[in-house]
Amino acid sequence: MADGPAFAESVARLASPVRAGGYTAIAGIEARGLVFGAAVAAATGLGFVPIRKPGKLPATVLRESYELEYGRDALEIHHDAIAAEAKVFLIDDLLATGGTLLAAATLIERLGGTVGGAGVVVDLPDLGGSRRLAERGIPLHTLVCFE
Ligand code: PRP
Repeated sequence: MADGPAFAESVARLASPVRAGGYTAIAGIEARGLVFGAAVAAATGLGFVPIRKPGKLPATVLRESYELEYGRDALEIHHDAIAAEAKVFLIDDLLATGGTLLAAATLIERLGGTVGGAGVVVDLPDLGGSRRLAERGIPLHTLVCFE
């Protein structure tokens, strides 16, 4: 993100599947997913939905808990953030075990939306997240893969 041309290239590459996919909104996950997601939303002209750590969003929220390597965490979304029949592209910086992205996808689906795809800057496939996304039927777009 500190490298301007690299950041712009990353945003352009994350935006590419969005333009081709008939999406109606972008959702980004705290923390760096908010940065990349908001930039992709602006680049594609779509609205942006923040998915945040507990206690950060100002209005009524839905919460979804998920497993971490050590312990549990949770994500929240505004209760009215997803329009009827929304097709959402979900963005985060990093995919490891997939717990974070799948919890965010569950929040969107609990509000009646569909997660049509996800984009991450970095995937660590050995930690199993990309496999879990595939099992859930969510296509993944990755810029860099470290095995
Ligand atoms: C990191 C990263 C992803 C998540 C991926 O966030 O930004 O959101 O871990 O891990 P997972 O696939 O195993 O769920 P972290 O929870 O460290 O919080 P941060 O964004 O505030 O750094």
